[in-house]
Amino acid sequence: MVDLSVRIGSLELKNPLIAASGCFGYGVEYADVVDLSSLGAIVSKGLFLKEREGHPAPRIVETPAGMINAIGLQGIGARRFIDEKLPELRARRATVIVNVCGTTLDEYVEVSKMIGDAEGVAAIELNISCPNIKEGGIQFGCSLTGTYDVVRAVKKATRIPVIPKLTPNVTDVASFARAAEDAGADAVSLVNTFLAMAIDVETRMPKISNGVGGLSGPAIRPIAVRMVHECRQMVKIPVIGMGGISDARDALEFMIAGADAVQVGTANFVDPFVWTKILSGFADYAERHRITRLADIVGTVRHETTPSRT
Ligand SMILES: Cc1cc2nc3c(=O)[nH]c(=O)nc-3n(C[C@H](O)[C@H](O)[C@H](O)COP(=O)(O)O)c2cc1C
Repeated sequence: MVDLSVRIGSLELKNPLIAASGCFGYGVEYADVVDLSSLGAIVSKGLFLKEREGHPAPRIVETPAGMINAIGLQGIGARRFIDEKLPELRARRATVIVNVCGTTLDEYVEVSKMIGDAEGVAAIELNISCPNIKEGGIQFGCSLTGTYDVVRAVKKATRIPVIPKLTPNVTDVASFARAAEDAGADAVSLVNTFLAMAIDVETRMPKISNGVGGLSGPAIRPIAVRMVHECRQMVKIPVIGMGGISDARDALEFMIAGADAVQVGTANFVDPFVWTKILSGFADYAERHRITRLADIVGTVRHETTPSRT
């Protein structure tokens, strides 16, 4: 039997497979399809202090090997999540990470305090990387001092682990991982979606109402793997990788590049049974490679070149 458990700072997960924010509702919606306790963790949809309606439809469009979304962080707000969703998540024994959003530093701090005090939340994923809202959020995530300041402020406000989620829409993502680490982050997660656009040539209108949105799915995977690898080399804290993972091989690729755990988003829309397939793929790989602890493959990418035969 392979040991699939991983450590993310003080957090021990039974396996490295995590449901990504915004692609798994609040978790409860999937409880009849997926045994929530079988996942390493689930990440909630992004939550502000107050409820938000998000952008008008159309909010998603399919693209080659991916999709663009601009949901605009529609959500029920932190208080309703705690009152209406957390009790069921606790009953289902899910490990819950809450994706915390804010338009101001004070809002990040206030939501984090509220979430950190609630019973049954394992960690905060700090969303400083949503490309689809104009105010707050990504403005912190695209500035090194903004990243540092918001992580530091939230760390002071809560005792549960804080995991800033980084945007790939910067030149040097690893420097943002470093800023987060310097501010006391327990881990970083990446990537959020890539800013993108699709246009209907007949109407000459953007295909989604917001004009631009975030690209996710298999199309972004090689870029995300490279970014995870760069962050692994830059920081000592755990790295959680995501971007286009659809099966166990994709997930293992991220781990070998340096991810201690992985998140799966878009693939859940294609196949809500993807979770058990990935978990059994992990076991199969471990058996074929005689690995007893899956965590041992983290960051083991080999850079030496194969000697030429000629
Ligand atoms: C429809 C949709 C909604 C999302 N909502 C959020 C969100 O609320 N907070 C967040 O941090 N990321 C959000 N994301 C980004 C995903 O969590 C993930 O970072 C990204 O999609 C890349 O992973 P994937 O290619 O496996 O989907 C969303 C993505 C999609 C497709």
